[in-house]
Amino acid sequence: MEIATRVQTLALRGLRELPAEFIRPANERPENSKAIEGTSVPVISLSQPTDVLVKEMSSACSEWGFFLITDHGISPSLIQRLQDVGEQFFQLPQEEKEKYANDPSSGMFEGYGTKMTRNLEQKVEWVDYFFHFIWPLSKINYAIWPQNPPSYREVTDEYTQELLKVTDKLLELLSLGLGLEGEKLKSCLGGEKLELELKINFYPPCPQPELALGVEPHTDMSALTILFSNNVSGLQAWKDGNWVAVDNIPNALFVHVGDQFEVLSNGKYKSALHRSLVNKEHLRMSWPVFCVPPLDAVIGPLPSLINEENLPKYTSKTYEEYRYRKFNKLPQ
Ligand code: SIN
Ligand code: FE2
Repeated sequence: MEIATRVQTLALRGLRELPAEFIRPANERPENSKAIEGTSVPVISLSQPTDVLVKEMSSACSEWGFFLITDHGISPSLIQRLQDVGEQFFQLPQEEKEKYANDPSSGMFEGYGTKMTRNLEQKVEWVDYFFHFIWPLSKINYAIWPQNPPSYREVTDEYTQELLKVTDKLLELLSLGLGLEGEKLKSCLGGEKLELELKINFYPPCPQPELALGVEPHTDMSALTILFSNNVSGLQAWKDGNWVAVDNIPNALFVHVGDQFEVLSNGKYKSALHRSLVNKEHLRMSWPVFCVPPLDAVIGPLPSLINEENLPKYTSKTYEEYRYRKFNKLPQ
């Protein structure tokens, strides 16, 4: 296995100039593709009545594929504790973190990682991460979770329980928004076999943030992604030909529609194109949770949404095949 150079290690060297593999081609650089002013991402309070929520959410999913939720019921102190344990893990000595190193090339996705596969332009992203399953119980491998800080497991399990409630609520509202029974989308994602994966993104301060990207433009292959950050801005969503900066609202959760919901809804809900920028002064961290179907679930446009005016826009395939094609940049 190739030993990765961690972005955190590079950042600690106090470089003045960004190494060449992080310098994006001119058209991708944040300095040449600035976010537009005057447009802001929809913010939806979950304390509103169901009919209002269904309307607001379905238009946010059709127009943006992206929105923020407030009043979601997860306490600010739990969000803070999850941030604390994540930060404490990344502050451990490097050799301690390396004990958790993953190896995606041999199918070991869980653990501590730095993306080493370069894109077509041979560029890499300014980010390290930790990735592991948090749900269902049968998929959890506690041995790969950080053992340090010792409260990591307890805090993460508690967050999972709270997030499951939010996920159920969102899945219900999004089903109703498509004119379906409230349970429909969850059952398409395997019902109780629905999987949640946690990624902790760690973006150290970057010497030349105007030339780099934290995460390059992409859509998530999940059904839904729910995340928060450490209140350092950087996430941007693509809307009508422009990047829009996502404002940080303390304790709000960011929700992206991912590819599986675009497919199931036959394109009514858009999988949101997004990217993240880095920062010269501040460490940025984010905690996305990907809500995905089991690998053997077959995902295709829902038959009840298809008719003569609305022909299927996507092919049906297992999530496993979708994932393989996305990783290997094959057509879907
Ligand atoms: C990602 O989409 O992978 C990163 C999102 C973020 O850091 O806010
Ligand atoms: Fe993403």
